Parts: sequence; C-alpha cells; structure tokens
Amino acid sequence: MFNRKTNTITEKDVLAALSKVQEPELHRDLVSLDMVKDIRIDGGKVAFTIVLTTPACPLRGQMERDAVEAVKALPGVEEVQVRFDATVRADNRITGRLNIPIKNIVAVASGKGGVGKSTVAVNLAVALAQQGAKTGILDADIYGPNIPTMMGLTRDHLPSPRDGKLVPPVAYGVEVMSMGFLIPPGQAVIWRGPLLHGAIRQLFTDVAWGELDYLIVDMPPGTGDATLTLAQSVPVTGGIIVSTPQNVALEDAEKSLIAFQKLQVPVLGIVENMAGDVFGEGGAERAARRLHVPFLGRIYLDRAIRQGGDLGRPIVAIDPNNPQAQAFHRLAQAVAARISVVSFQSAPELRII
Ligand SMILES: Nc1ncnc2c1ncn2[C@@H]1O[C@H](COP(=O)(O)OP(=O)(O)OP(=O)(O)O)[C@@H](O)[C@H]1O
Ligand SMILES: [Mg+2]
Repeated sequence: MFNRKTNTITEKDVLAALSKVQEPELHRDLVSLDMVKDIRIDGGKVAFTIVLTTPACPLRGQMERDAVEAVKALPGVEEVQVRFDATVRADNRITGRLNIPIKNIVAVASGKGGVGKSTVAVNLAVALAQQGAKTGILDADIYGPNIPTMMGLTRDHLPSPRDGKLVPPVAYGVEVMSMGFLIPPGQAVIWRGPLLHGAIRQLFTDVAWGELDYLIVDMPPGTGDATLTLAQSVPVTGGIIVSTPQNVALEDAEKSLIAFQKLQVPVLGIVENMAGDVFGEGGAERAARRLHVPFLGRIYLDRAIRQGGDLGRPIVAIDPNNPQAQAFHRLAQAVAARISVVSFQSAPELRII
C-alpha cells in the first residue's frame, strides 16, 4: 500500500489511514462517511479538511487528535494539518413537502407550562448561531407569544414584506418569527382548528426564511392542538422535552414523549431546567433514563437567566462566561449531535454530506 522505497505519500495512503478513524457519534469511519476533502500533500506535510455534519460538533477535538495520529503513523509524514468545515444535512422531507430552505426543524415542548421552554429555545438558538450554524427561531405559542420580547425585538423590528413573503428580523444572529409580530398588542386571538392549522403553516411557508441549518420551534405548553398541528403541517426532524427536576418530571416528560411518538417525531432528548436548591436536581435525568431517551443537559436556576429573558438579552449572548451560558452551549452541541445521528439513522444509505 505504501511506497516504502521512496516514501512518497499518496492521497490513497492518507485515505487508507483515515478510514481507520471513527466518527464518534455515527460509529462509522470518516472516509466511508465522505467527510474527508481537499487532501494536499507537500513532501512530508499532509493537510486535509474534515467536513463535519454540524458546526456545533462536540467531538471535533477528539476527531482531530485521532486523524492526526492516524496520518502521522504513515511512513514519511512529518506534519499533519487538519482543517474543519461543516455541512448540515437537510431533512429531505422538509424541502419535499414545503419547498422551504430549512434543513432541520426542532420542536421544544413540555407537558407543563412555565418550565422554561421559551428560555431554552432562545438560548439554544443563540448558542447554535454563535457556533456557526444558520439558525432561526419560530414562536409557535400563538396564544402567548413571548419570543420577540426574549430576543429583544420591539415593534420597531417587525418583519418586512418582500415578494409576497415576510422577511424575519434578525436578533443575536438568529432569524426570528412570531405571531406576536402580527397581532396588535393587547389583542387576544382565538384560533380554532383550521385557522390554527393555517396560521402555523403560514409561519413556515409565508416567511422568507434564509437557508437555515436549524429552525428551533418554541411550542405552547402541553401536548394539545398546536403540537398536533405543527407535526401535521411540517415534518419535524426532532423534539426536545424540557422538564424541571421535580418528582412530577417523569409524568410530564412521559406525556410529551408519548405525544411525539404518536406523531412520529423522533425525540432528541430531555433537558433539565431550573435545577438547584429550590427544585432539587436530577429528576429529569432520571426520567430520561426511565424513558430510554437521551439526557441532553442540565441548566441551573439562575436569576441572570430570568433577567436576560425579561430584558430581551439572552444570557448566552450577553454573558458568555456565565456557567449557565456555557451549559446552554453544551446543550446546543448535544442537540446538534443528536440531529446528525437521527438524520443518519433515518437515511443511512444516503451519503451524509
Ligand atoms: N434556568 C432558569 N433560571 C431562572 N429563571 C428561569 C430559568 N428558566 C426559565 N426561567 C424563567 O421562568 C419563567 C418561565 O420561563 P419560560 O417562559 O421560558 O417558560 P415556558 O415553559 O416557555 O412557559 P409557557 O409554558 O408559559 O410557554 C420566565 O420568567 C423565565 O425567565
Ligand atoms: Mg413559552
């Protein structure tokens, strides 16, 4: 395989070495996943690019170390340089059914109100954007839309019309759309069956969304109409369940899990929010274990999170060194990794990039 006499390194040698390196989440090698690009060989120097399935990849460091080690083991290699790029794979059902440029739709739900869905959705979206993913957030809580406030958007930042569609305003690098922009302040709206269906669908189809890697959808509380409507209107790539750490967490999480399963929405996992002295810790993680779904991460109760929400300044955006901001970043990575795995499992025969 190697030309030992002259020690000339070939592209084939490099690919052979990298075919022994595993993608740690997908459990397949980098070469068969078609993740290695742009191999350059200059004497003993080898450079190549690894194309990740998400820019928010938690295991980039490990892959880099493994790849460098594997290629360095080739005779004649003195120096290895790894570059990273990322292409998020599209959930083909979305483009197929709606003809919108969004690659993945992620619903954030809970069995109970007030557990922090909107807070998690906002900080998750901002964290994904900060890690380099093209991200949007859609407020599907059409009864009590509060994403605009949490993202610091006022009525001075309404969506603007273009070619018969609405262009969503951008805050903290995230495209934002909410029924809250379209309803005059203080006006209550009662949506019934078909109207609700139409309204939710329009938030996808009549909005000039950019080419988003991830659209995070903040759901209203409970497992009612809106969840059903969402899943019937658009293909949802995966669902995240937010839960507090109390004892009832298991019951609440189970309700959301059953709802997602009925709607054939893959569950990405459970997030524990508001952990700490007041509510304790670990209940949602235990629920995840009992229900056999991944545990995605824990966010502690922190006044700065609430203040950030009230002031429209998400903690991830304004205080990146805060331990909870960092916890949201780890959550974003866990979510992105799960989406890569879920899309891979749903279409393993397809090339991943
Ligand atoms: N980890 C946290 N630490 C401190 N406060 C938090 C935390 N998570 C959420 N909050 C606060 O709790 C309140 C409820 O959060 P949020 O609105 O995100 O919940 P929700 O599940 O979306 O509620 P609803 O069911 O009404 O949509 C808000 O005031 C928010 O700022
Ligand atoms: Mg909410």
